Amino acid sequence: MNVTVFGTGYVGLVQAAVLAEAGNKVVCIDIDEDKVARLTQGHIPIYEPGLEPLVENSIAAGNLSFSTDAAHGVAHGELIFIAVGTPPDEDGSADLRHVLTVAATIAGHMDEKKFIITKSTVPVGTADKVRTAVEGKLAERGRSDLDFDVISNPEFLKEGSAVADCMKPDRIIIGTSDDESEQKLRQLYAPFNRNHDRILVMDVKSAELTKYAANCMLATKISFMNEMANIADRMGADIEAVRQGIGSDPRVGYHFIYPGIGYGGSCFPKDVKALISSAREMDLPAEILTSVESCNERQKHYLVNKVEAHFAGELAGRTFALWGLSFKPNTDDMREAPARVLMERLWEQGARVQAFDPEAMDECRRIYGARDDLQLCGSKEEALDGADALIVATEWQQFKAIDIPSVKSALKQPVVFDGRNLYDPQQLVGAGIEYYCVGRPQ
Ligand code: UGA
Repeated sequence: MNVTVFGTGYVGLVQAAVLAEAGNKVVCIDIDEDKVARLTQGHIPIYEPGLEPLVENSIAAGNLSFSTDAAHGVAHGELIFIAVGTPPDEDGSADLRHVLTVAATIAGHMDEKKFIITKSTVPVGTADKVRTAVEGKLAERGRSDLDFDVISNPEFLKEGSAVADCMKPDRIIIGTSDDESEQKLRQLYAPFNRNHDRILVMDVKSAELTKYAANCMLATKISFMNEMANIADRMGADIEAVRQGIGSDPRVGYHFIYPGIGYGGSCFPKDVKALISSAREMDLPAEILTSVESCNERQKHYLVNKVEAHFAGELAGRTFALWGLSFKPNTDDMREAPARVLMERLWEQGARVQAFDPEAMDECRRIYGARDDLQLCGSKEEALDGADALIVATEWQQFKAIDIPSVKSALKQPVVFDGRNLYDPQQLVGAGIEYYCVGRPQ
């Protein structure tokens, strides 16, 4: 099928590459000329396992191309995805400017029927706004005779496993009440819908809300567990035992109940805020989500509060080794990362940070620039060198194995603050290391 994708961010790029690999002819349109030039050479601006070869192969096979020419994109695609960003406004609501601009662009160039698919996470009612924008532009052109449909088809990919999630989706949500649109998308997704049926067809608004409900549910699980961890911490219980104790009930399940120092990334914080904002517009208080959000903000301070308490508030002049900068493993993304709150609080108090992350070093440099109180190190060992204490903020695989004697000898004070419960408290304490983690007795 001929497919056009507007927006070459995470969502658009991954979806485009996966559809191209399945044999579709995919054109990606972006307004950023530099990015388009780099993508055309096969250079991927983000770290996402498996994406680069997929893009390179699809370009070589002639199934994937990149362009800034919107008219070409609109002419090419019978199916046109809108996968541009929806950054939060001041009040947390999603800013639809880019989505609606693309809608008007499509209407400005189309001269035959188009299936317009919203892939960006957009508030309930956005498809209607896209429809109105398209109708408005077509009327302006005197082309109200042209037919089109707007379909909601939210994505559920996770950073770090985006390609796999896209190739083997848990579910494919098609929000439309139009039979032809449903058939088109069924055809497009047929290669990803083998063995058992993953396609769920529903009305547009339910599809839009499903996306938010999914992320808000997951964020709620995390904040709930973090609250339990804080309670366990004060009560002297072990949240890791409690986690297994509740996870064994299939109604709760083991997934996504790991306590830590808060969720981050581009999705959960943004989507929770956006749904709160949408609910409030309708005079609904969204009490659970409001608490999920505030618990998460507080949780980002959990570990640094422990650091302060340990050093009796005297952090000036101290050096901290920091393992992990990205908001989670297998990504270089530092948006809303707990490590940022941590570093910024340490800096405010005059401490230095020696940081190491397997992928996010460039991103950290881009965000914070060169500063005296930040040293970006070449390895996790180098980060430890001469530091007062070690702080672990992200559960990268390579941090899970800890060489206790060398950590102990590299640190001035053998103390480890673990925001992801990676280590066995008894082992560390037994080796003479003071150990702080989340919701487990020391
Ligand atoms: C999330 C959802 O998981 C995807 O299904 C969704 O498609 C995506 O948002 C989106 O809306 O685009 P992502 O932001 O990539 O994906 O990250 P997750 O893997 O879900 O992790 C989110 C955060 O929760 C991370 O900071 C992680 O450390 C934290 N987390 C996760 C916990 O603290 N505990 C857990 O048990 C699980």
